[in-house]
Amino acid sequence: MTERLKDKVALISGAAQGLGKEMAKSMIAEGAEVYISDINKEQLNETAKELSCSFILHDVTNLEDWQKVIDHIREKSGALNILVNNAGIGNGGDIESMDLDTWKLVHNVNLDSVFLGCKLALPLMRDSGNGSIINISSMSGIVASHNTSAYNSSKAAVRHLSKSIALHCAKSTNLVRCNSIHPVFTRTAMVQGMIDAAPERNIEQKLIQQIPIRKLAEPKDIANAAVFLASDESSFITGTEILIDGGLSAT
Ligand code: NAI
Repeated sequence: MTERLKDKVALISGAAQGLGKEMAKSMIAEGAEVYISDINKEQLNETAKELSCSFILHDVTNLEDWQKVIDHIREKSGALNILVNNAGIGNGGDIESMDLDTWKLVHNVNLDSVFLGCKLALPLMRDSGNGSIINISSMSGIVASHNTSAYNSSKAAVRHLSKSIALHCAKSTNLVRCNSIHPVFTRTAMVQGMIDAAPERNIEQKLIQQIPIRKLAEPKDIANAAVFLASDESSFITGTEILIDGGLSAT
């Protein structure tokens, strides 16, 4: 074990599975004290047991839940140095087929949660000294598709909100940095579900064909970037984004 995150306390939302779980695993391996949170109680318990870390049941769309989570971490650990706003939902639908309720739901889970998380965590993060907020956006927040209107919109807004937060934080003495990560299709339940839903459409091949290095990203590829942004190695990096896209944005 190396100790790039020694003495740091981290909260990762939506970490019962997928990218959140992988980021938790990597941050624990680098010496951080990690809290994982999720709305899925059963999976959360299982993952917390597997990783031997603290866990909190948490709906990221709910302001009172956020306050409870932050109060709990303040009481138990006395500090919060790393916040990863990772919880999110995928959704298909072009502008004409998208109904207003779905639009609101996607923005509520993917965007409002980031607003709430940053807003409520910042006082504790500032009290804890320097810190790092990592918002998980998507390549879909940079490059649009015809049939992911709400997802594109919510993830693009996460990118810009992260910049506004970074500039706000840059004004204070205890610097909390804020950046976004933009993964391309990554092998998690979110993408595997899409692939398995229609085997006859050969979706995996279609996704891979869009990526110049001709493979899907693995959760570890995203976790490596998150550890870097969480660590002091990135102490001059704020208000920007890391694209983890296998070259897609270069095409
Ligand atoms: P996933 O579906 O495997 O995991 C998402 C987790 O978020 C689940 O454990 C789920 O229970 C939790 N969650 C959902 N709604 C919640 C809520 N209201 N409160 C608390 N937790 C909630 O997804 P995956 O692939 O791990 O994605 C993680 C993040 O990465 C998401 O924000 C997603 O949009 C983003 N992303 C994923 C990509 C991929 O290809 N897998 C690509 C680009 C971005």
